[in-house]
Amino acid sequence: MTTTAPQTPAAYDLLVDRDDVVSYLVGAGYLPRLAASAEQVTVREVTAGNMNRVFIASGPLGSLAVKQAPPWVQAVGPEWPIDPNRIASEARAYAMLADLAPASVPTVDPVDLDRYVLVMEDLSDLDVLRDVLVRQVADIVAGAAPVAIDFDALGAVVGRFSAELTLATSLVALAPAAHAALIETAANPELCALTVDAVLDEPYRLNDHNHWIPELDGEVRAMYTDTELLAAVGHVREIFATRAEALIHGDLHSGSLMIGEREAEQATKIFDPEFSFVGPIGMDLGLFWANLTIASIAATQVGAAGLARERASAIPSSWDAFVTVVTERWPHRVGEPDGLDLETWLARIRSDAWRFAGVESVRRAAGYSHAADFTTLPAARIPAAYADLLVRARAWIITGTDSTDSTEGTL
Ligand SMILES: Nc1ncnc2c1ncn2[C@@H]1O[C@H](COP(=O)(O)OP(=O)(O)OP(=O)(O)O)[C@@H](O)[C@H]1O
Ligand SMILES: [Mg+2]
Repeated sequence: MTTTAPQTPAAYDLLVDRDDVVSYLVGAGYLPRLAASAEQVTVREVTAGNMNRVFIASGPLGSLAVKQAPPWVQAVGPEWPIDPNRIASEARAYAMLADLAPASVPTVDPVDLDRYVLVMEDLSDLDVLRDVLVRQVADIVAGAAPVAIDFDALGAVVGRFSAELTLATSLVALAPAAHAALIETAANPELCALTVDAVLDEPYRLNDHNHWIPELDGEVRAMYTDTELLAAVGHVREIFATRAEALIHGDLHSGSLMIGEREAEQATKIFDPEFSFVGPIGMDLGLFWANLTIASIAATQVGAAGLARERASAIPSSWDAFVTVVTERWPHRVGEPDGLDLETWLARIRSDAWRFAGVESVRRAAGYSHAADFTTLPAARIPAAYADLLVRARAWIITGTDSTDSTEGTL
């Protein structure tokens, strides 16, 4: 477990080691859910992302996940300060999801805004989807049979989740005054600014945060002067900044999903909604589509054409599930967003989704945060994987469609 203390003290106590976590949990009244005495509680750190620290505390009576937002980007340190109140955005999204899609999210306790801590259900019996995707490919490379994932079912869960969350928080279900109030309470300016930087701006120009493999140098530098692409990215930035349609997760990639062996409804969990805000509905689906395409390309690169198709099938199945829920609810609407009819509204969400899939893909190839699906491929396969992704991404961003999408036009 990491024991390095940050150099600059935060204005609140940070959880660093086992004793910090245990005394926090005891002080906040959680001990009875874990053990009869504090000595019985063990703690392991599972921090994996860039932003926060996460610990699992376990005892004879149960276990809990403990997530704390430091006042900076965890992976960088005090030199990159960022508002820890992002944990309040995460808690707000979870509170809504507890009503709208309870089976698809962890159960969460009330957020502690003195210590910026969220205590929630321990999901460590499940696996992060990205890790399973990487393992499937590693197994194939090693000549072993990969574990099976039901990608159709996965897509359906994500599509339903996106529909439940966004319909209930859009003008389809909310009166204009309630919608306007939600836009204000769900505002998440610092993390939205981070998305603008990391996804919509920096990957398209020389910037110290960017990196790419040498074989992609020509393609990446060509992007910086590709006026058609840059204009289309500008359009996506505008959609992000102005299309305050509904509460969205905001970071729905395969590192924000867990899958596993629980009974059907509980077997897929969506977590980490700290980027949540009232934004374009298509963004969550688009991020999911990009990351499933990345996974599909990775499978193609190791010669697993069947697995590549299965992985890609989660894209239409998520859209179908999204449309099914929306179509069911539409007759009960209180209003039409922007006065659009159902078909036009869905078509706009869909083209937004492909555009966001495009910018998400570019940042995974030429921005700060790449995808393990590609970085863990056999070295000889990596350049072709990135090149394939960039070609698709450019078309998605410019056209808002996918030329291989068999469900295109079948709303
Ligand atoms: N409720 C939970 N139960 C078990 N493990 C969890 C839980 N929440 C998070 N984790 C583990 O901790 C890791 C980091 O969690 P999370 O993605 O929420 O943190 P983050 O710092 O916000 O990440 P990012 O920088 O990607 O936004 C996850 O990948 C997962 O392995
Ligand atoms: Mg996060």
